[in-house]
Amino acid sequence: MTILVTGGAGFIGANFILDWVATTDEPVVNLDALTYAGNRGNLSPLDGHARHLFVEGNIGDQPLVETLLRTHGIRAVINFAAESHVDRSIAGPAPFFETNVMATLRLLEAVRSHIGALAPAEREAFRFLHVSTDEVFGTLEPDEPAFTEETPYRPNSPYSASKAASDHMVRAYAETYGLKALITNCSNNYGPLQFPEKLVPLIIHRALGGKELPVYGDGRQVRDWLYVGDHCSAIRTVLGRGAPGSTYTIGGNNQMENIALVQQLCAQLDARRPRADGRRYAEQIRFVTDRPGHDRRYAINADRIGRDLGWKPAMSLETGLRQTVDWYLANEAWVETITSGAYRDWVRRQYA
Ligand code: NAD
Ligand code: TYD
Repeated sequence: MTILVTGGAGFIGANFILDWVATTDEPVVNLDALTYAGNRGNLSPLDGHARHLFVEGNIGDQPLVETLLRTHGIRAVINFAAESHVDRSIAGPAPFFETNVMATLRLLEAVRSHIGALAPAEREAFRFLHVSTDEVFGTLEPDEPAFTEETPYRPNSPYSASKAASDHMVRAYAETYGLKALITNCSNNYGPLQFPEKLVPLIIHRALGGKELPVYGDGRQVRDWLYVGDHCSAIRTVLGRGAPGSTYTIGGNNQMENIALVQQLCAQLDARRPRADGRRYAEQIRFVTDRPGHDRRYAINADRIGRDLGWKPAMSLETGLRQTVDWYLANEAWVETITSGAYRDWVRRQYA
């Protein structure tokens, strides 16, 4: 048996594949379009590995996906492929709807056609796991209870609206066509291999470069931080034991205000790579114009996956951030490679 991972050259997908190959015997086919966020080098530890096949291609290429499903005897699809950065969705929503909605529809159509030709037992065993976000639930007030699987969808950004649409499609394919689908809605991930447009790696990268550290608005927005390795173990758990047709909310139980997180990263850097002038990295922090429609707070109640499947996060935020800072300090060449021309253009436009 083999699994098909989409978006496996991106941040979470690459971590998932590296963990999968290390912890199981099952081969994985990795379909990725290598957009600006995809990096073949993320999989370089698997170069020449017999159980990892990289295919450059689009999830919206239905004939290609159908061929992969058939020729590799795929038993499950884990769909990470997406446009994933809120600020880019605000600057230009169209690619988010092209990929997260229309290309995902084509992927679902390929799967529908494929399982239609399977024997009943194989069709019953086939899984489609769709990786989504807590952002589909909108924003929480400071004293509101955390998101659960029952929270109504209220997306506020073009990104979260496009992800909400994809979740609804997956649900509709389960109800209408009997697809054995699973949806996971998780909180903000952090860890190795994250593209430095997202908060944690952006702050580390800019701090080391002596640049200003942009904190949107008053910096009191709250995110619930999940270490990427914990997210990968949750996905393996849901794939293995999740009830088809179910949704699972996944979080790290680590709510923190952005400004506190940025200060913590600065303190970690002070301890590990002190500034040459002896000053503190926190002096580089600047409060900048807020993101339009900025969600105030996300928080996840992960009771269902804990109770029903026995999963809980293993990494504390403090240790996870320390390991992440260490990883970025040890992998400056990786950061250098991916922060080339196109990245610099984005940063110039976004933080001008
Ligand atoms: P990412 O942007 O780092 O990676 C996305 C990957 O998908 C890239 O490798 C890109 O090349 C690939 N891709 C994009 N469009 C494609 C297409 N049409 N066909 C094939 N490949 C395509 O994203 P990430 O942070 O790894 O997120 C993975 C998934 O997890 C996304 O669906 C995202 O919505 C979801 N998610 C992410 C977070 C987070 O904190 N990063 C939190 C919750 C949910
Ligand atoms: P981000 O990493 O973009 O994830 P998301 O928008 O999906 O939560 O941002 C995390 C938080 O950090 C969010 O509240 C926006 C804030 N933020 C900044 O304050 N400055 C920045 O430069 C970026 C990229 C994000």
